[in-house]
Amino acid sequence: MKKRELLLKLRDEAQLGGGIERIESQHKKGKLTARERIHFLMDEGSFEEIGAFVQHRCDDFGMEKQRFLGDGVVTGYGTVNGRLTYVFSQDFTVFGGSLSETHAEKICKLMDLAVKTGAPVIGLNDSGGARIQEGVVSLAGYADIFYRNTMASGVIPQISAIMGPCAGGAVYSPAITDFILMVEHSSYMFVTGPNVVKTVTHEEVTSEDLGGASVHSGKSGVAHFTAANEIECIQQLKKLLSFVPQNCEEKVPSFVYESSDETRPALTDIIPENANQPYDIRDVITEVADAESFFEVHHNFAENIVVGFARLAGKSIGIVANQPAFLAGVLDINSSRKAARFVRFCDCFNIPLLVFEDVPGFLPGTDQEWNGIITNGAKLLFAFCEATVPRVTVITRKAYGGAYDVMNSKHIGADMNFAWPTAEIAVMGAKGAAEIIFKRELDKEENKANALIAKEKEYAEMFANPYRAAERGFIDEVILPEETRIKLIKAFKMLENKVTNLPRKKHGNIPL
Ligand code: HXC
Repeated sequence: MKKRELLLKLRDEAQLGGGIERIESQHKKGKLTARERIHFLMDEGSFEEIGAFVQHRCDDFGMEKQRFLGDGVVTGYGTVNGRLTYVFSQDFTVFGGSLSETHAEKICKLMDLAVKTGAPVIGLNDSGGARIQEGVVSLAGYADIFYRNTMASGVIPQISAIMGPCAGGAVYSPAITDFILMVEHSSYMFVTGPNVVKTVTHEEVTSEDLGGASVHSGKSGVAHFTAANEIECIQQLKKLLSFVPQNCEEKVPSFVYESSDETRPALTDIIPENANQPYDIRDVITEVADAESFFEVHHNFAENIVVGFARLAGKSIGIVANQPAFLAGVLDINSSRKAARFVRFCDCFNIPLLVFEDVPGFLPGTDQEWNGIITNGAKLLFAFCEATVPRVTVITRKAYGGAYDVMNSKHIGADMNFAWPTAEIAVMGAKGAAEIIFKRELDKEENKANALIAKEKEYAEMFANPYRAAERGFIDEVILPEETRIKLIKAFKMLENKVTNLPRKKHGNIPL
């Protein structure tokens, strides 16, 4: 065969992965192939493949007779929304997308290039884990990837979409990356699958109940996003990328923005008359952010805190907001973990932080204490303390107790702290406070209930407002709700060139 024809033939062969039959079987399961996924992710015509002819080196178990060009992973670069992006896409039609020595080498090569050139890496994962026929070399391949994931963490964004079963080693690389997206009913993540679970613990469980999208987005918090199908998942991925700089040296992407009337009258009526009544903090977020820009992260997990990206005057910000509509917005283990991880991501990539605060405190009780609310709450505290990006807080209503300190207070490094006139900044709610500090007086009263109400009122008048904190400068300005957007636009503009240096150290020791 002529040299030119040989190349064209090999190129065609590489396109087919594990062969037509296995591609059909992948389609029958409602799944796209590795190449189809890349096609939908990258800008048209931009993808350049690297390593299409790589083959495995295993000669055991008859493997020498089964070699497929590319060895179960398509790797390369191109653009997403016009920006350089690296992608690896595991090919389930080749040994179930399992990771061989050479498959790992391809991913590592890509990650090294991404770090050198400062651009994100997207992993489209669909893999049965370590290639069983290869033994320790495939384990070594995983470890090589984990090491690179860790070294690249905080340098370039790393995002993992889970698009099929991901077992064993296949889950730990995504776990080190910044975000995990899962597809409902066709993607699974577990360290050991249902069969092993049954053998070891005698527990009978389906793949879906063990590690499906709903489990990981709602119960474990492993997944940040879920999508109804693969196309929706890829669209979410692109949207996520649109908020994020290419690397830790870059500023956030800036979109064209035309200023208009920035007052937001709808914000005046959001806080209910009764301080114990809930409201949805998303109504505040969507009013304040640029139209339709809010992109929520971890929607189904720890719903008492809302986190996500948005744009303010065209520029990305990260939002952390207590959610009074769920468990009164209390801080607990999961909400602290969720918010801490988000704050860390934003700080890695120069994304300014906006905090909306309405928090009655930390959730009390044995469940929380025994499972480590102390260590987990401290994660959020630590994450805010260490964050050097521009940081602004708006207290909409309650800011009680330790939660006042934790939620981006002035004292832990926030740059601008606003409060609405409805803010209540105190050690605790008026009832609890009155019961404790006026206990002796109340015990002497004949009508204790009435006396308590009077004392409660006394305490509330003193502290259930933002002015004590404003007197001290802990609040920079008390603002009307409708002024919030313009105040925030100006504050973040003023903070644009903020520089803060942390003390010289190897690294801090976040309470993990
Ligand atoms: C080699 C594998 C493979 C693997 C699947 N295949 N997993 N080949 N190594 N790990 C092959 C199958 O032989 C089959 O080949 C093809 O991929 C499709 O697999 P099926 O089982 O037919 O598909 P399905 O029914 O959809 O099940 C997918 C699956 C299952 C859930 C992923 O294959 C499975 O449980 N695989 C093993 C998972 C596992 O235990 N992995 C090792 C984890 S240990 P043919 O030729 O028929 O198409 C690990 C250690 C790393 O990863 C630890 C690092 C911290």
